Amino acid sequence: MGTEISSAVIRRLPRYYRYLGELMAHDVVRISSKELSERMGVTASQIRQDLNNFGGFGQQGYGYNVEYLYTEIGKILGLDRKKEMIVIGAGNLGRALANYSDFERRGFVIKALFDISSNLVGKSVNGIPVLSMEKIPTYLKENKIDIAAITIPKEAAPQVAADLVKAGIKAIWNFAPTDLSLPDYVVQENVHLTESLMRLSYKLRASEDK
Ligand code: NAI
Repeated sequence: MGTEISSAVIRRLPRYYRYLGELMAHDVVRISSKELSERMGVTASQIRQDLNNFGGFGQQGYGYNVEYLYTEIGKILGLDRKKEMIVIGAGNLGRALANYSDFERRGFVIKALFDISSNLVGKSVNGIPVLSMEKIPTYLKENKIDIAAITIPKEAAPQVAADLVKAGIKAIWNFAPTDLSLPDYVVQENVHLTESLMRLSYKLRASEDK
């Protein structure tokens, strides 16, 4: 690898990974870029270009070895190592994340939730404890946590994110509808569902205008 992979390619990799996983589940051993492109609805040349970023993994006349490609993309995405997570905010969304067992199947394990509400602290969600916010620094010293998800009101999110970074968190999965300004060494993914809905609304309006 070595060279930087463009963010557009990175954005597409999880989808390749999902399709290849489904092919493996159906005992498909190899696939051509043409077949894969037909299933995924992208051009074969796009697939070849994307996968060439990592040395291709393909062989002329053979196509791609599904399991090999799946494993290699998994490595690129860092999925070959389990990630431990905490969720800040045990409200509707935080609980939904904690209740979703598919994350764990993918290697993302939620170890604890944190909240300021005394009604929630001490309870558990799907067997995962809800702890008080004051415990975060100690908890992070005693447990190796890779990712913190933020599911609290947007007003509180910037300060809480800054505190998490101070306590050693290097990756934030932010669901609060606000932009967090964090040091460069901290990586973040923002999941702004309302923005996604607005884009859908735009598409709907545009299609109705036709
Ligand atoms: P909620 O009100 O059900 O839960 C928020 C939780 O955060 C509460 O348990 C509250 O005690 C806790 N909290 C508040 N301030 C805190 C702080 N400073 N430190 C720690 N915990 C704190 O809200 P909900 O629906 O779960 O939403 C959470 C965030 O996710 C919001 O920013 C919301 O805009 C966003 N969001 C939620 C969606 C959903 O489907 N529920 C969808 C899209 C975004």
